Amino acid sequence: MCGIVGYIGKREAAPILLSGLKRLEYRGYDSAGMVIVNGSLQLMKDKGRIEDVDSAHGLRDMKGKMGIAHTRWATHGEPSTENAHPHVDCTGDIAIVHNGIIENYNTLKELLESEGHEMKSGTDSEILAHLIEKFYCDDLAAAVRKSLLQVQGTYGIAVVHRKESKIVVARNGSPLIVGVKGDEMFTASDASAILEHTKKMIYLDDKEMGILEKGKVTIKNLRDEKVNKCHEEIGWDLEQIEKGGYKHFMLKEIFEQPDSLKNTMRGRLGKNVKLSINGSVENCRRVILVACGTSWHSALIGRYLIEGIAKVPTEVDYASEFRYRDPLVSKDDLVVFISQSGETADTLAALKEAKKRGAKTLGIVNVVGSTIAREAEMGIYTHAGPEIGVASTKAFTSQLVALVLLAMDLKVKKGGKIDEKLARELNRIPEKIDAVLEEERKVKAIARKVAGHPNFLYLGRGINYPVALEGALKLKEISYIHAEGYPAAEMKHGPIALIDENMPVVFIANRGRGYEKIISNMEEVKARQGKIIAIATEGDEEIKRLADWVIHVPRTIDDLTPLINVIPLQLLAYYVADMKCYDVDKPRNLAKSVTVE
Ligand code: G6P
Repeated sequence: MCGIVGYIGKREAAPILLSGLKRLEYRGYDSAGMVIVNGSLQLMKDKGRIEDVDSAHGLRDMKGKMGIAHTRWATHGEPSTENAHPHVDCTGDIAIVHNGIIENYNTLKELLESEGHEMKSGTDSEILAHLIEKFYCDDLAAAVRKSLLQVQGTYGIAVVHRKESKIVVARNGSPLIVGVKGDEMFTASDASAILEHTKKMIYLDDKEMGILEKGKVTIKNLRDEKVNKCHEEIGWDLEQIEKGGYKHFMLKEIFEQPDSLKNTMRGRLGKNVKLSINGSVENCRRVILVACGTSWHSALIGRYLIEGIAKVPTEVDYASEFRYRDPLVSKDDLVVFISQSGETADTLAALKEAKKRGAKTLGIVNVVGSTIAREAEMGIYTHAGPEIGVASTKAFTSQLVALVLLAMDLKVKKGGKIDEKLARELNRIPEKIDAVLEEERKVKAIARKVAGHPNFLYLGRGINYPVALEGALKLKEISYIHAEGYPAAEMKHGPIALIDENMPVVFIANRGRGYEKIISNMEEVKARQGKIIAIATEGDEEIKRLADWVIHVPRTIDDLTPLINVIPLQLLAYYVADMKCYDVDKPRNLAKSVTVE
């Protein structure tokens, strides 16, 4: 994780670096630092969030037109001043910022220490500064290149030297881009950090380096050969990544869902489904959906959709499990990688594994130009727009829509007919979500009543069982309340032992498939004095007999109910966390883009 920003140009670097870092805080926020080169290296870093480090040390007052900065999510070494980046070498001339993990760091550390280098931190990153020092001979780019040849692991790095007017950047497995605006050069872990300055981005590939000078950028590979790369124009604008009057990005993103879903569908759903997927997917005998976190919950729902609509056997795997379990996949399999960021390390490694084994690969990704989007053979961009809140909301529902489209497309490609009722109903989902969002105040009132409970249980059946998992995940991520999701019928095999008057149980209880069974489960909870919050279909008044609180949602066909049911669960988690005065957008210990294993 961690976020990197760099600038070289005609303006003061510090304010540019600071505003970039703030936009990258979603990547980690336990410490921050900056180095400005102005004849000497001015370095400032500390534990804490960027605004705290800035107000304590006056980052913004540092003078100079070139610098690099970093916001950290600790992997090796606790959050502390010493462990914060940038790290410098023994001479104090070289400074580096790093995102990723140096796997052979122990070996390199021993070697460097035996040669007299002194490490000041407990991080793996610091060895890079010393390694570059070892190879430095009046040419920073050459020293970085030689150092990287010694390194195993992942890195996005930016490096400066006191005597050189250049920033040297490189990547392997951790994202890094270069932004260009006339004579000014930028670098960042993610386009959002520099979007206010430029939309022209050069995406570095693994084992590539960039040498950024005023008015010039040179891209090379680690064999020191020049690589010709054109810049790409990014489609997002700044307004899309601002809060727009909402208290938190998460709330804004929840409310954006009617629009983000329209964007996912735009141009893709008419008389036919139009996805640019070829690669003979009609020949696939099995679909495997691979993801992490919230995206894994989308995958679970995707299984119901693809098996139900396209009738293709479908499996779901955690990316971290898939990559290490010697998966039996072949050219007959379509392996689909779902990721908001397109940078999750485990998902990316799983994609490489599937490719190696000859499977067809497809990415369902939100961030345009991200590594997974570029590595997968085929792709469906979700077009949900930038998602900044660490807890995923609109990216999740857009993934679900992409999966419905994929299932419909597979069905047609395998010789079936488009399900017109499903297509019509999918088109109506944005307005139905608008109707659910109107229940916001009711959800807020329920949140107030239940926020004090230490444990929650979420129950759903069939396609809404993963929605129960997602509801529980949202609550624990941002309100730090212990919450578990379960298939409702499994309650009897364990969780029922926990139920008493202090245990709120959230039931997803739409009318339709499995409704009667869910009602029986509610009776079982009621009989044990559990508190029930029910998500129920509009017009279902009977459910009030059992539920302490009911949130009504519009009727839709079973396959699409997850899109509607998850909205009140997102709002419930949001309001519980906000009432507890937690930092909803930056929950403790989490990061939005997990680029370490
Ligand atoms: C992190 C985020 C989650 C996200 C997961 C997978 O844990 O906090 O919100 O679902 O990573 O990320 P991806 O970008 O691959 O969807």
